[in-house]
Amino acid sequence: MSVRQTAEPEYGNWVSTKLIYGSIAMSISFFVLSSVFPIFVVGTIPFLLSFAYFAYARHMFSQRGGNLQAPIRNLVVEHLDWDGEGKVLDIGCGNAPLAIELAKRYPSAQVTGIDYWGGMWEYSKAVCERNAEIEGVAGRMNFQKASAAALPFEDEYFDAAVSNLVFHEVGDVKDKRELIKEALRVVKRGGVFAFQDLFLLKRHFGKVDDLVAMIKSWGIKEMAFADTSDSEFIPKALRLPFMVGRIRIIYGKK
Ligand SMILES: C[S@@+](CC[C@H](N)C(=O)[O-])C[C@H]1O[C@@H](n2cnc3c(N)ncnc32)[C@H](O)[C@@H]1O
Repeated sequence: MSVRQTAEPEYGNWVSTKLIYGSIAMSISFFVLSSVFPIFVVGTIPFLLSFAYFAYARHMFSQRGGNLQAPIRNLVVEHLDWDGEGKVLDIGCGNAPLAIELAKRYPSAQVTGIDYWGGMWEYSKAVCERNAEIEGVAGRMNFQKASAAALPFEDEYFDAAVSNLVFHEVGDVKDKRELIKEALRVVKRGGVFAFQDLFLLKRHFGKVDDLVAMIKSWGIKEMAFADTSDSEFIPKALRLPFMVGRIRIIYGKK
């Protein structure tokens, strides 16, 4: 029997198990310390609350729980005004749910996914390839290990580019606006783009008005900014700033 008939794709979770285990480990450490210094019992509370919150969020994002990652990433696809002809790049593809969705939606497209695949994330190139195989689109997809900070492609190589919840995660670049510039560098003139991220986080992207003005100053033909955090399917509890409360989509035509 083929992989496709027997297996399900594994698209991973934006709340890593390391975050959950870290919260519970800190809570236990404070509890143990409190047997010697009773005041430390106070320290258990924030970590227990973090554990409960992150466990809830993980469940809501999970494919076998609330499955909220699918509609949130589909907001990117909906904002990409593309005819599906040519090459598309997904920057920071994780386990490739967005890249695979594009390959399924656009049967003529060649889809490339890049990611750093390291650190706290439980994603890998091998899982991307397996997921593409299961979904029956592996023949039109390729995956490469690369950084969003230095994409290994020449200028204007792609007809379209997307990214979902990645730029704010790139640790080695302080000004995350540089990552948007790098992403747009590899899009053709007249090509299209849709990037979803926590664009309202000032420490990463500066003020929204300045961000928009800056992107326009790079000679981008059409560009818009959409508030996706108020999508009605996102529960209020997940709209905290560090979760998906500050997400927006930057989209348009180069
Ligand atoms: C929240 S996950 C989103 C994954 C995927 N876009 C999705 O929607 O499921 C953030 C991703 O950013 C990737 N990432 C972090 N730093 C990166 C870098 N410098 N270059 C490329 N990807 C990076 C991580 O490996 C991870 O896959």
